Amino acid sequence: MALRNILIFDPKGGISERLRESLDEVAKCLHIESAADAQKVLRSTPYQVGLVVFDSDSESAFREVELLVNSSSMTEWIAIVPPESLSSLSFQALLLTSFYDYHTLPLDVRRLGVTIGHAHGKASLRRSVNENQTTASSRFGICGESPVMQSFFQRLERVIDADLTVLISGETGTGKELVAQAIHKRSKRSQGPFVAVNCAAIPENLIQAELFGYEKGAFSGAGQRKIGSIEAADEGVLFLDEIGDFPMSLQANLLRALQERAIIRVGSVKSIPVDFRIIAASHIDLLEAVKAGRFREDLYYRLNVLHLILPALRERAGDILLLAETILKELASIHKNCRATGFAPDALQALNNYHWPGNVRELKNRIHRAVILSERRLISARDLGFDAEVQASEELGATLENARASLDRKIVENCLRANANNVSKAARQLGISRVTMYRMLNKHSIATAP
Ligand SMILES: Nc1ncnc2c1ncn2[C@@H]1O[C@H](COP(=O)(O)OP(=O)(O)OP(=O)(O)O)[C@@H](O)[C@H]1O
Ligand SMILES: [Mg+2]
Repeated sequence: MALRNILIFDPKGGISERLRESLDEVAKCLHIESAADAQKVLRSTPYQVGLVVFDSDSESAFREVELLVNSSSMTEWIAIVPPESLSSLSFQALLLTSFYDYHTLPLDVRRLGVTIGHAHGKASLRRSVNENQTTASSRFGICGESPVMQSFFQRLERVIDADLTVLISGETGTGKELVAQAIHKRSKRSQGPFVAVNCAAIPENLIQAELFGYEKGAFSGAGQRKIGSIEAADEGVLFLDEIGDFPMSLQANLLRALQERAIIRVGSVKSIPVDFRIIAASHIDLLEAVKAGRFREDLYYRLNVLHLILPALRERAGDILLLAETILKELASIHKNCRATGFAPDALQALNNYHWPGNVRELKNRIHRAVILSERRLISARDLGFDAEVQASEELGATLENARASLDRKIVENCLRANANNVSKAARQLGISRVTMYRMLNKHSIATAP
């Protein structure tokens, strides 16, 4: 039977090592000491089961644990508690509302193994219900009925099963990360982790430690051993986002890890084999980067085994409105006081005519803004930010400052009109004082009556 992956949040590291050894036959455990790190891991890898180890004075970390367990809706949590903690009412309430089950110390590992099995079963059931609830027009959670997307899905289907390296290209916001997650979720590695690394967001001097990990004392500040992202992706998927920004100086190291399927932690000489599938994504043309000498050719060919190209939103005939409706429905179910149930004719026309430089992400953002601002049943082109002024500034390549000012102006004016030009009410809705509201009306020359 395949080992189950379990995340152990044990802030003091008191029993995780012993636990890991005792659970050796049923589970593969990842021990994490900080709640922030645990949240980060869960954002990229939806662990089905997590253990939280409390110690006698960990009630101080109560809020932290509460936040962690409540922000990971796909994970079933099991608490390990010292018996004396159970007398606290707030502690009892937390166990009752946020945990699948709890075990008291000293541990009966055999019983814990059984609970882990049950929690796993429940998490799988929840996942399967969630997946079946997706709409018919979305495959793999990716919405699209246009011919270009249909052929994309056909290719994706073949790529999923191949267990080879994948390169995903496409303009910004076309859904590259969504596709990477879908490949992981549907592949035989779905029970393994999905570890995402944004190569553009990590400073060059940290990327080696982040990817390969390090041994305690490898450099000043390396207080304890750290497992790198490649090693953390063992039996799963390593998603290298914005690979075009991967520093040239480290590309040879990455290539070696890909070829040898092994890594060496910084400060060590031992090669550790890792079984991982790589999915890389880039919004820039990597071949151009190769020609410009910014990307190694051998690494490019190593990554470009299977290539998926996501079409830009403007090329997906018919999908814009389908996506807009789907996104509106999703947002309306989250924003309980949203009145909007559809789009006005001018909005539909604007959605179809616009060239969508930011693709699906931009569509999502515009609808989100409209859901918050619109007071009407039908969202207008104006609610979506399509009016002469905003479009002109976009076409001229507005500076950040101009773009912000233009957005501020729109939000303030829309809110004022939505509140029948009542300045106090509008200020309250925006969460600013009346004085600030008047200052903004003045700054943006907005009349208090239309
Ligand atoms: N076809 C789709 N159906 C539903 N949602 C989508 C689709 N494509 C993208 N999205 C949503 O749009 C947003 C942007 O997608 P994603 O982050 O995957 O884009 P990306 O290509 O990785 O962008 P970037 O290059 O900027 O990193 C996400 O919220 C994603 O869920
Ligand atoms: Mg992305």
